[in-house]
Amino acid sequence: MPTSLIPFSRPYRAPAEDRYLRESLESGHLHGDGPMTQAATRLVEEISGARRALLTTSCTHALELASMLLDLGPGDEVIVPSFTFSSTANAVAIRGATPVFVDIEPSTLNADPDAVAAAVTDRTRAIYVVHYGGVGADLERLQKVADSAGLAIVEDNAHGLGARLHGRLLGTFGVLATQSFHATKNVQCGEGGALLVNDDAMFERAEIIREKGTDRSRFLRGQVDKYTWNEVGSSFLPSDLLAALLRSQLEDFDDIQARRHAVWSAYADALAGWADDHGVQPMVVPDGAEHPAHVYYLMMPSHDDQTGLISHLRERGIVATFHYVPLDSSPAGRRLGRTPVPCDVTADRYARLVRLPLFAGLTPADVERVVEGVRAYRPVG
Ligand SMILES: Cc1ncc(COP(=O)(O)O)c(C=O)c1O
Repeated sequence: MPTSLIPFSRPYRAPAEDRYLRESLESGHLHGDGPMTQAATRLVEEISGARRALLTTSCTHALELASMLLDLGPGDEVIVPSFTFSSTANAVAIRGATPVFVDIEPSTLNADPDAVAAAVTDRTRAIYVVHYGGVGADLERLQKVADSAGLAIVEDNAHGLGARLHGRLLGTFGVLATQSFHATKNVQCGEGGALLVNDDAMFERAEIIREKGTDRSRFLRGQVDKYTWNEVGSSFLPSDLLAALLRSQLEDFDDIQARRHAVWSAYADALAGWADDHGVQPMVVPDGAEHPAHVYYLMMPSHDDQTGLISHLRERGIVATFHYVPLDSSPAGRRLGRTPVPCDVTADRYARLVRLPLFAGLTPADVERVVEGVRAYRPVG
């Protein structure tokens, strides 16, 4: 009998999703900021610990909204790690500002604070911090760099909802932070995101920019008797139908996390000996970091072993994958960004990293199949 394919990721299905979607359809309120958006927003605030949250159509859009709130423009620079999704840098470039790419720490794959400090110029306005896999970046040191140069910190927390660093929730360190609810994330609504606003003074403008530059949110709360165009904005709010889906997932957050952690720990326990024997470095979670079980990766000894393990697993019906192609050497990165020092660690880690399937619906039998598949691979080094 042919073995079934174990995908890399499969979106979680929440028991309440049908009910909420039907409720939303029947309510007739399908545009943004309806009752489902309100309920989902409260849950995002509760889980993230942020002062305020605004649902957006994606994390990409939340990052763009952040760049608009910071009034980034031509001549400004923002420091971003080279090892991230295009959206982090794109949100800077879309404003005509320059993303400045820095290298990562070899262990966590997060921006290296020394490289960040060295990249600051009198044009630098902000640091866009990524928490890779929801493992917190070194915010203590990054905050010192930001404070000494008067820079804003924006956390791209696409992976890290509910994760903590030294007990504090990720997404509460920066003046702004962003979440992703893309189908591949722990909590998802197909395409979705949120902007977390930790500075009350920024909230009203954030609402305006998100609502086509108008004060419609204030109008809907009865705070003004008509709404009008106040400044340049865009349409960053999701349909209430998507918020219904998101609400059902957020209500299951603890269950989703428990299931994902069970898979993550099973991989970590079962693969430690094999990794040790073959010069493979399993994912590092430093003391003080509480990760959200968003990814589980292995750092293979060589690029040949990265491609070797991925195709070996593929032959066994298991989808494993690499991650971010470095942005500093990407076509747009070269054209639109600046790279003061070559990002050698990024290039090296990109060429060796393999992510294993990880989602809440992965059964113990699937996990066993993945573990056996990995253990049957002999790295060439
Ligand atoms: C670090 C990071 N930022 C931003 C994004 C973009 O998220 P979205 O698909 O919600 O726009 C991703 C996507 O996975 C990501 O990994």
